[in-house]
Amino acid sequence: MGAADAAAFIAPGSTVGMSGFTGSGYPKAVPMALAARIEAEHAAGRPFQVRVWTGASTGPELDGALARAHGIEFRLPYNSDPLVREQINTGQMEYFDLHLSQVAPMAAQGFLGPLDTAVIEVSAIASDGSLVPSSSVGNNKTWIDQARQVIVEVNRWQSAALEGMHDIYYGTALPPHRVPIPILKPGDRVGEPRFRCDPDKVVAVVETESPDRNLPFRAPDAAARAIAGHLLEFLCHEVKMGRLPASLLPIQSGVGNIPNAVLGSLLDGPFERMTAYTEVIQDGMLDLLIAGRLQVASATGFSLSPGAAHRFNAEAAQFRDRVILRPQEISNHPEVIRRLGCLAMNGMIEADIYGCVNSTHVMGSRIQNGIGGSGDFARNAYISIFMTPSTAKDGHISTLVPQASHVDHIPQDVQVLVTEQGLADLRGLSPKQRARLIIARCVHPDYRPALSDYFERACAHAYGQQSPSLLTEALSWHQRFIETGSMRS
Ligand code: COA
Repeated sequence: MGAADAAAFIAPGSTVGMSGFTGSGYPKAVPMALAARIEAEHAAGRPFQVRVWTGASTGPELDGALARAHGIEFRLPYNSDPLVREQINTGQMEYFDLHLSQVAPMAAQGFLGPLDTAVIEVSAIASDGSLVPSSSVGNNKTWIDQARQVIVEVNRWQSAALEGMHDIYYGTALPPHRVPIPILKPGDRVGEPRFRCDPDKVVAVVETESPDRNLPFRAPDAAARAIAGHLLEFLCHEVKMGRLPASLLPIQSGVGNIPNAVLGSLLDGPFERMTAYTEVIQDGMLDLLIAGRLQVASATGFSLSPGAAHRFNAEAAQFRDRVILRPQEISNHPEVIRRLGCLAMNGMIEADIYGCVNSTHVMGSRIQNGIGGSGDFARNAYISIFMTPSTAKDGHISTLVPQASHVDHIPQDVQVLVTEQGLADLRGLSPKQRARLIIARCVHPDYRPALSDYFERACAHAYGQQSPSLLTEALSWHQRFIETGSMRS
């Protein structure tokens, strides 16, 4: 049926579980039709909002369109749409930002409330009624299982060669019936290629032919290249010391321009026969696959620039044996990440001198995107690495600060920090040792004397000497930025 008729099944105030992960595999027609309906209702003076659950970020046809219509009351678990971000930060929308591995279990446990409708993009419907997933898996299995009714969007733009790439694991159970997940290597397939779906739940099937829409990545600048260079040197050193195998351990690379640039640099590195157990396959990872450096990549979706997405679509068949897309509950599962020993490499907003990392909040209160899978990987990785340029906003912000204005990752989950200035290997160090190394290696020279001065005064005057801090001064850099537009004194 048409998208408008399908959207009519969605009631005001209801909860909708949409497909979509980092700009791939999200429904494109029904959310737009829903947004139009919401706008018409608002124009007639009737309230209409829905609660939206997804896999992660989606695209302008979903988050953008619904936010423009002021149609989202509550959103989870990750967003990067600018309008949604603005509505969250101006208090118009409630946002529950949570570890991506925990969304599906929480929904199954009943902690999130009932799910009324699932709207799922697929690439095909098989003759037995099972659904061939599209370019992301995300939480779709859970949404289809939990929802009272299902709307399916069949997107003909998605490559037919996607069929067989997915691994939908149906072995998860709630405690006390949980059993080990039998993934021993990134390339292991332990599930089924399609979603099971009770045909009685399907109230609408809508056909589309629309590309996944994602922004292009920025070309790596000097800072990104320097960060990548430090990281490459570190990995080579770890191999030399016998702490990593020559083909490394399964790579996890986070979202953002810097992690993508780091992947690009691995093309120039000496590592062969690498594997990835990660959340998204971005341009840099596709290049590694094409070059044959990466043997296999396991993820839950793609995050490709428009050019790379078209290239992947045209050549999808060549990747079928080397790309595995799993539910995000499995791609980000702490048990599997710990077993495989992933090398976690994630971007961040800021870190403090003790290595607390803020991945989410600007100046302690404004959400940027969300924690995504960074916590799933950071806590359970073999080595947990965070990276950022040492300054932001034309040098007016130091990304290394006396105290993080929000903490997503505690020092125990942060083992290596990298900026264009250098790399601090924090493993085995006490808080004061970490602070000295971070200040010496990672901080921009414009801010190093001030941070060093703060730390030495904290060592002299703090209430305690384990993690010395001057409470009235610790967040003064952020306050100065809010008041003057610069952290510089
Ligand atoms: N203070 C204020 N703003 C900051 C900042 C800081 N310390 N550091 C970065 N920013 C701003 C940038 O200026 C930029 O703003 P703009 O969009 O207005 O230009 C914005 O934050 C994004 O920064 P950018 O340099 O483009 O970084 P990125 O694309 O590499 O993304 C994160 C960095 C932290 C936003 C991104 O990695 C993220 O969302 N991480 C959390 C989720 C995650 O790690 N998921 C991966 C798990 S698999």
